[in-house]
Amino acid sequence: MSIQKVAVVGAGLMGTGIAQVLAATGHTVVLRDVVNGKAAKSKENIGKQMLKLIDKGKVTADQRDALLKNIHPTEDLSDAKDADFVIEAITEDEGMKKTVLGELDALVGSDVIIVSNTSSISITRLASYTKRAEKFAGMHFFNPVPLMGLVEVIRGLASSDETIGAVTDLAKKVGKTPVSCIDSPGFLVNRCLIPTLNEACYLLMEGAATPEAIDAAMKLGANHPMGPLELADLVGLDTALAVLEVLHRDLGNPKYAPCPLLRKYVNAGWLGRKSGRGFYKYAS
Ligand code: 3HC
Repeated sequence: MSIQKVAVVGAGLMGTGIAQVLAATGHTVVLRDVVNGKAAKSKENIGKQMLKLIDKGKVTADQRDALLKNIHPTEDLSDAKDADFVIEAITEDEGMKKTVLGELDALVGSDVIIVSNTSSISITRLASYTKRAEKFAGMHFFNPVPLMGLVEVIRGLASSDETIGAVTDLAKKVGKTPVSCIDSPGFLVNRCLIPTLNEACYLLMEGAATPEAIDAAMKLGANHPMGPLELADLVGLDTALAVLEVLHRDLGNPKYAPCPLLRKYVNAGWLGRKSGRGFYKYAS
């Protein structure tokens, strides 16, 4: 199966990173966000990021130009009409995903594979919002997408072998290592990672140590590249909370109950780096 034109739907942190790695590997990318100007802004941000890489001698100006030329920002979903492959990367809201997946299913060719970059919602349930469950799978990238080596390839109940093969091939083409798994709450990484972040929130709430001390402990004591609280700020506290809600509900085990402090921060709009404040404060 030849995949040349990819539609990335949702130009948030993840959609933008996914667009970047696809464009860098020669794919034509339609980057769509419903918010006026957001996809164009994302493309602009990729361009700024690439300037830093030019300064470091990691890419040439020609490579930057070629990459940017491959990205076509839009607000209009119908620009995805002739895509060979579709990646849904909108906000982690099942109702919104249901609507967009239904629209995409009606829009793109019946042989086109649609994947979701969801961090926690059941792939089997998302597939049921389309009429192509065998051509639907999870393709889960990690933040920051250009730097992280993994893509989880998640098999929904009805995903065909051909679909899983094509998603795996695309992950390799964009320079990632695919790891496949069946559809289960949190898949592989978030099932292990997000409870760790939650535990760090409990430590903070209990007054065990400062955020800096908790993060230093895990960096130096467990050799993690980032501490759990700074990583929660990177992932987004709303995303971490959403994953915990799914683990708690779907696995029915109280050990996954979201820390009340995490919930309080999300209620306050302290979502981490993207909102300028989470466990730490960030310059805008
Ligand atoms: N494109 C290409 N290259 C880039 C880039 C970009 N957008 N941004 C930075 N780079 C380059 C830099 O130029 C730098 O190059 P150099 O080493 O030659 O100078 C290199 O990449 C590393 O950049 P940094 O110095 O900023 O990176 P660090 O060494 O500090 O590492 C990190 C940053 C990779 C984020 C590291 O701290 C890390 O691995 N943290 C953990 C991240 C993690 O766990 N993510 C997963 C979260 S869970 C998730 O996403 C799932 C979701 O569903 C919740």
